Amino acid sequence: MFTNVILNAIHAVDHGAILVELSEEEVSNEEVRGIFFCVSVTDNGSGIAEEHLGHIFDPFYTTKEVGEGTGLGLSVAYGILREHDGIIRVASEIGKGTCMRLYIPKRNCEGENPDRR
Ligand SMILES: Nc1ncnc2c1ncn2[C@@H]1O[C@H](COP(=O)(O)OP(=O)(O)OP(=O)(O)O)[C@@H](O)[C@H]1O
Ligand SMILES: [Mg+2]
Repeated sequence: MFTNVILNAIHAVDHGAILVELSEEEVSNEEVRGIFFCVSVTDNGSGIAEEHLGHIFDPFYTTKEVGEGTGLGLSVAYGILREHDGIIRVASEIGKGTCMRLYIPKRNCEGENPDRR
């Protein structure tokens, strides 16, 4: 999951920078609720065009040349995260870069969220 997201960032930058950060966040929306670990991968690369944003998690969706990408990286990452009750958020601007946030539920060894009341 992380490899796929970080590799995408590496492919998107040309002598740019990639920042990987970890934080703990409380999320409460219609999809999920609770305390999450948030791993964000931010690059200052090409950015993702508006018309592609809605498709990047689809299997086999790629903007890369034939032979360079299968379009499976993000769909696999998304699938793994959903299996673990996580979510992905994307913010991107053409020419400025992309920030992918992977939210993973905080749980103890028994699978319970110690902070959930
Ligand atoms: N950090 C990013 N910056 C710019 N575009 C991105 C970024 N991450 C994903 N994308 C876009 O999302 C598309 C889908 O990504 P995904 O990882 O699923 O496939 P891929 O990288 O094209 O191929 P694969 O990962 O299978 O080798 C990419 O082709 C690219 O257009
Ligand atoms: Mg990829």
